[in-house]
Amino acid sequence: MIKQAIIPLAGLGTRLLPLTSVFAKELLPINGKPGIEYILDECIEAGITEIIFIISEKKKMIKRYFYNDNFYKSLIKKKKDPRIIEEYKKILKYKKKIKFVYQNKPLGTGDAVLKTRKFIKNSYFLMLLPDDLIMKKNCSKEMIRLHKKYKASVMASMTVKKNNVNRWGIYSVASKLDNRNFVISNVIEKPSVKEAPSNNAVIGRYILSKDIFKILKKQKKGKGGEIHITDSIKTMIDNKSLFIGHKFSGKYLDCGSMKGYIKSTLEIAKL
Ligand code: G1P
Repeated sequence: MIKQAIIPLAGLGTRLLPLTSVFAKELLPINGKPGIEYILDECIEAGITEIIFIISEKKKMIKRYFYNDNFYKSLIKKKKDPRIIEEYKKILKYKKKIKFVYQNKPLGTGDAVLKTRKFIKNSYFLMLLPDDLIMKKNCSKEMIRLHKKYKASVMASMTVKKNNVNRWGIYSVASKLDNRNFVISNVIEKPSVKEAPSNNAVIGRYILSKDIFKILKKQKKGKGGEIHITDSIKTMIDNKSLFIGHKFSGKYLDCGSMKGYIKSTLEIAKL
């Protein structure tokens, strides 16, 4: 059963400067709604009951967004604006499900995952990277279904242009389960065009086993001096863990770069 999700939110968001110099990128509006709320809606609709936010002192604004009860209460008391009441109810619904842990140094996604170790209750959990929005079809829900069927770890994926492989984790396929799902034989974090075993990119949705924490504890720094979840996933695959790459059918929006963010706002408005 997958009931917990984790969301790394301690990243500095340098690809979105100057917007992120004083503002958390995950709260930036995408068609009038903070990006993080699209991610939360995906989780909740997929049956997740607890969501662990990995934030930092610098990103405390995210906690304040969900814990601003007094502000809402005093406004509602003064004038019973039905729109504000509705918005407050929505925030409360999210707040009930969210827990916070801290990663004060931006040491990478692997390090962020490790911070949640003591809070994970079941043998598998979901991780969502907030830069990656997948619209129209609930990718997490589909991945949970696959996990149940194959008792495996699952990563979302899509095919990318050959000359863009160094932006992503890239995996190679051992065998095909069906048109959308593949057994993974290897994964490399941000390879050069030459190093890349394929153009199958990992996108920010992962179903991982608790066993990854043991590997993460020993994980050495990789590309760019960061601790990458991809490197620990590679070790798990080498140790014969079953990992499935799921080519999702929803619409992918990259909200982590300026170009992508601008495009996402326009695309979502059209949906
Ligand atoms: C992270 C992962 C990478 C993955 C990507 C998906 O990279 O390390 O393997 O392909 O997310 O968005 P980041 O976006 O943090 O650079």
